[in-house]
Amino acid sequence: MNTNCYPKGLESIQTPFYYYNTDLLRTTLACIKSFEEAYDGFSVHYAIKANANPKLLKIIQEYGLGVDCVSGGEIQASIDAGFAPSKIVYAGVGKSDWEIELGLDHGILCFNVESIPELEVINQIASEKGKQANVCLRINPEVGAHTHTNIATGRAEDKFGISMEDMEKVIQLTQSMSNIHFMGLHFHIGSQILEMADFEALCDRINELQDRLEKQQVKLEIINVGGGLGVDYTSPETNTMANFKDYFTTYHNRLQLREGQTLHFELGRAVVAQCGSLITKTLYVKEGNQQKFVIVDAGFTDLIRPALYQAHHKIVNISSTATETDVYDVVGPICESSDVFDTDVTLPTTKRGDLIAILSAGAYGETMASQYNCRPLAKGYTTEDFKN
Ligand code: LLP
Repeated sequence: MNTNCYPKGLESIQTPFYYYNTDLLRTTLACIKSFEEAYDGFSVHYAIKANANPKLLKIIQEYGLGVDCVSGGEIQASIDAGFAPSKIVYAGVGKSDWEIELGLDHGILCFNVESIPELEVINQIASEKGKQANVCLRINPEVGAHTHTNIATGRAEDKFGISMEDMEKVIQLTQSMSNIHFMGLHFHIGSQILEMADFEALCDRINELQDRLEKQQVKLEIINVGGGLGVDYTSPETNTMANFKDYFTTYHNRLQLREGQTLHFELGRAVVAQCGSLITKTLYVKEGNQQKFVIVDAGFTDLIRPALYQAHHKIVNISSTATETDVYDVVGPICESSDVFDTDVTLPTTKRGDLIAILSAGAYGETMASQYNCRPLAKGYTTEDFKN
């Protein structure tokens, strides 16, 4: 057992399961906080869609981050974890009435609104409740991002947000609505972005829009740039932290914040990806005609990213002491050809019973799990569960 990274006792737990290194999570949060505190007006929200495990939420909340939600369930999970409603922002193209009511009842900081019909419904529900809804408008900035097409969101053809062309018209509409308080603009260009040039392009676009609005005496209290900062899936053991320095510095240097404005970030992956591993057991090693398969007890029901986005997660054998290696396709037990974690993976010679860790699985792993094939959901354990 590689006990440098994994605690003793791991081998006796029913696989598959998620293991979260909370020491790494805390180091990551401390780093994020140091930038937030260094730059005036910066306010970081955690995109809870990345991982809503209550043990992690509690830690994230302790570090004082806000939270970015996209459903009533996420609002409830945030409140249960102790996040103050005044630190909750709520986005999403399709908010149901009960979800809007939940947000209003808790008095969340702001709704990130994506269309005129949604704005009308929020105004209507808020007026029935005799409340004011704080609103930012999500604008589609038509900025492409260098990432997988399924996780790019800010291009002209994407379903998210209000077009730049309609921006002034919708702002005017908010001002005519008695139960809407317009606060600012929201953007999000995509996820797993490693090129700072993409964030620079967003800054340039926001500067342009802000100049345009200022000429019309429209003032913004909040600018929300969404999330998107990527992590290193290839060398996660050496590169445990996302490039927060370049990310926050890019926004600090490039975005022209006005006096008193707050700049919101909504980081998900960069907060939790590297602290999580999916731990799975080798069931069989099968010799195919052309390749060898390591068949493990986790499948795409536990971690769907490789099947859905052709994502690569580093895979390591944490039991083996073998010095020889072999090349394997690492596959799950689900009755679908896409249930493959990776192909041509070099591992120490692997045998039945060896524990395999699939790294960088803390973001969009546990939250995207399903029960297809009537499989139970993998549980999540943290470093703290092994201390004593
Ligand atoms: N804000 C908004 C409005 C978003 O839609 C998202 C992610 C975030 C913030 C957080 O983005 P992050 O910092 O995590 O990149 N399941 C996919 C990722 C989907 C991201 C959806 N939106 C994956 O596993 O790669």
